[in-house]
Amino acid sequence: MSRDTKTYVAGHRGLAGSAITRALKGRGYGNLLLRTRSELDLSDRAAVRALFAKERPEYVFLAAAKAGGILANKTYPAEFIHVNLAIQTNVIDEAWRSGVKRLLFLGASCIYPRDCPQPMRESHLLTGPLEFTNHPYAIAKIAGIEMCWSYNRQYATRFLTAVPNNLYGPGDNYDLESGHVAAAFIRRFHEAKVGGAKSVTLWGTGKPRREMLHSDDMAEACVALMELPDAKFDKLVASDPASPQPPLINIGRGEDYTIKELADRVREVVGFRGEIQWDSTKPDGTPRKLLDASRMSALGWSPRIALDDGLRGAYQDFLTRLHPGKR
Ligand SMILES: NC(=O)c1ccc[n+]([C@@H]2O[C@H](COP(=O)([O-])OP(=O)(O)OC[C@H]3O[C@@H](n4cnc5c(N)ncnc54)[C@H](OP(=O)(O)O)[C@@H]3O)[C@@H](O)[C@H]2O)c1
Repeated sequence: MSRDTKTYVAGHRGLAGSAITRALKGRGYGNLLLRTRSELDLSDRAAVRALFAKERPEYVFLAAAKAGGILANKTYPAEFIHVNLAIQTNVIDEAWRSGVKRLLFLGASCIYPRDCPQPMRESHLLTGPLEFTNHPYAIAKIAGIEMCWSYNRQYATRFLTAVPNNLYGPGDNYDLESGHVAAAFIRRFHEAKVGGAKSVTLWGTGKPRREMLHSDDMAEACVALMELPDAKFDKLVASDPASPQPPLINIGRGEDYTIKELADRVREVVGFRGEIQWDSTKPDGTPRKLLDASRMSALGWSPRIALDDGLRGAYQDFLTRLHPGKR
């Protein structure tokens, strides 16, 4: 991957895609192909075909998706499966047709079974039933992994799926209905602080454990994967018929916290002094989702951003983007 390689970041304004774009620019990659959803709807097959035919990117980061937390997954299951299947089918197939050299598809840790042994290894894929609350999303992601794997086998492509754990960082979605856990907590505590509330009620029991990864750490890992020499990259995507391994690699910190611990840390960073109450009538989701990232670590990557530092930066980002003047 040379500095002028044409590189397409699909979903470059999202949490993951914006971090990948920052990481690429930071490393001097100047020939980036970027399209917002209003410029290019990736669920429109003809439009995706036209983009690849005209622009001919050599490297593709597929970070566009319909993403969201438990509530969004519960409210829009049909969209979660339909839109995600459409986006990834169009991009992966057109990447092959136009001769893309490498593609990195972003998966998510919900691909692993609900009661998966911890930490979850790549080999745990398809070894048990999934968590019901994000079934459609997880099944779309698993189909994307299978597509990468099948294209690698049939067409000798180099398509890899990276599986980061729960992300947070600049550019997160702070919407309470569609956002992820850390961003939603930031917003809830901030609004409680400025509104003078005595308590905040959060969904679930607070007992599930989650591993949090800063989006900039994830992005460094993704770019490092795309920069691997062919021989090392091929070991990740190779499909040895004797010991079939999906082209899959986990990206995680290797430590997790209960949702209650995470809420306490966000409350501290935001400076909300009231109490936290837990609404245990609401779903908890998967009990634990800790990734085994030893394959990624063996490639020399390690996360650099500590949780409290990352949360402080995320809160500043929230203030800057959504509440200027309310610091
Ligand atoms: N956030 C996490 O905790 C997390 C954890 C693990 C894996 N991931 C994975 O990372 C990927 C991105 O997630 P994210 O959290 O960054 O999501 P996000 O912040 O919601 O961003 C999604 C991006 O996808 C684009 N997009 C959505 N539908 C599109 C369409 N029909 N056509 C074109 N672009 C479309 C959006 O474009 P516009 O901005 O133009 O609307 C946006 O840039 C997903 O595959 C997700 O599974 C995320």
